[in-house]
Amino acid sequence: MDKTNLQLTLDTRPFASLEAEALVTYIFDEPDPIQGRLAEIDSSANGLLKRIAGSGEATGKTLEFTLIHAPGGLKASRLLLVGAGKREQFTGAILRRIAGAALRYLKSRSVKNFAFLIREGAAIGDNAQALAEGFITANFETDKYKTEKKNGKEIHSVVLTGYSDSEKAAAEKGLAVGKVIAESQNFTRDLVNEPSNVLTPRVLAEKAQVMAKEAGLAVDILDEKRIAELKMGALLSVAQGSAEPPRMIVITYTPTNAKPDAPVIGLVGKAVTFDTGGISIKPADGMEKMKYDMAGGATMLGAIRALAALKPNVKVICVVPSTENMPGGKAQKPGDIQTAMSGKTIEVLNTDAEGRLILADAVHYAKQLGVTHIVDAATLTGAIVVALANINVGVFGSDQPWTDKLLASAKATGEKMWQMPMDDEYREFIKGSFADIQNIGSGKGGGSITGAWFIREFAGDTPWIHLDIAGTAWNDDAKPWLAKGPTGVALRTLVHLVQSF
Ligand code: BES
Ligand code: ZN
Ligand code: ZN
Repeated sequence: MDKTNLQLTLDTRPFASLEAEALVTYIFDEPDPIQGRLAEIDSSANGLLKRIAGSGEATGKTLEFTLIHAPGGLKASRLLLVGAGKREQFTGAILRRIAGAALRYLKSRSVKNFAFLIREGAAIGDNAQALAEGFITANFETDKYKTEKKNGKEIHSVVLTGYSDSEKAAAEKGLAVGKVIAESQNFTRDLVNEPSNVLTPRVLAEKAQVMAKEAGLAVDILDEKRIAELKMGALLSVAQGSAEPPRMIVITYTPTNAKPDAPVIGLVGKAVTFDTGGISIKPADGMEKMKYDMAGGATMLGAIRALAALKPNVKVICVVPSTENMPGGKAQKPGDIQTAMSGKTIEVLNTDAEGRLILADAVHYAKQLGVTHIVDAATLTGAIVVALANINVGVFGSDQPWTDKLLASAKATGEKMWQMPMDDEYREFIKGSFADIQNIGSGKGGGSITGAWFIREFAGDTPWIHLDIAGTAWNDDAKPWLAKGPTGVALRTLVHLVQSF
């Protein structure tokens, strides 16, 4: 599902003249909410909106819906008012959610097309981008394997309105960028949604290869033979318990005017297509969710897919190690000592701390390929869910200026991320007793930080950021603006980070 079947267009004609099954706009929570364009609608509808607001039915509270049928003065057959909260707190992130929630609200009511009216005085390019992102990500459903789809309920087209002729070019640009980013986010979510019996490491690599070819990106898939030749002992140690061979997916974006000594960004993502825990096996309850343990890798594949279309002026190498983590007669066992590609020896105290093992070799390989700045994304620890729940991505960094850039991109794209501490003291927790390092901390808490420190050992002096997306890559419940399941979190931030580099 990389191409959306939702038609998104712009129409600068007067919004009242647009024929549609619904006209959607938003209302702020303020003493007199019927202002600007709402006042225009109100006067052609004989004071209808003032009556609805005056009675307390429409208050502007965030994501409150008021559906009005046959509104006077509009060609549209319905008017949907979506609460936008306080005007001073309004952001692109809220607009994105309003757009998504409106689409899902109308879709569930069998509406097939609608127009969305941007309110007066909005910043144009950015908000058309936010709208496109909101609509396209909201339209994504996880019913691929259901033989009966949602009763054929589908939104075919959305028209953006309220833009003047002079604002049109900027809005069209924003719309196009938003489409690329949201379709890539849905590409990521589609991969994460696949069950592990369908999406094995080999299948993930094939899909990555098809995507790269379509996007015009260079691709190199390392199979188990090349992985062994390169002595990627940490990745191999996780893969040895599985009947499915591992893959290392490498995709490169090179800008047209690439300079030889320019920085190269490495996007490294954990892609464990299923994490049973291995011999340190996980409890049965909830284990099915561990098909999402490849979300970090899928996020990086989606990000480079978007970058191929947006053409930033910086080289990007995406490195995605992929394997299953299985128990079995050949599986590694607690206490086993492995040698990573870098030469460092690792004492595997818990086979369920496998993400950091495969990332160790991926980060080292990315450095060999010439990356100068690294970001990794991984569903790495249950501990980050304890710390930040499903609200914030955990951010860990070895270089504050580089980390600050990412945090600024997160802010700009409305993704919640929170920096975690990386004091040297935590490094002591993973000092090995019988090898250089051990793959879990020695019982003193701080599980997400010790996980991050383990990866950092392999990044060395190269500026590095780790995103722990274990809590945020999967919505256990549907949101008004997003289906239950994979979220595609961090992709927008990563694309923004590369574009603003
Ligand atoms: N894939 C899991 C992380 C995870 C755990 C995500 C629970 C969501 C919910 C990872 O490979 C893992 O199992 N981590 C262990 C590390 C521990 C053994 C140090 C964990 O968090 O329990
Ligand atoms: Zn695990
Ligand atoms: Zn895992």
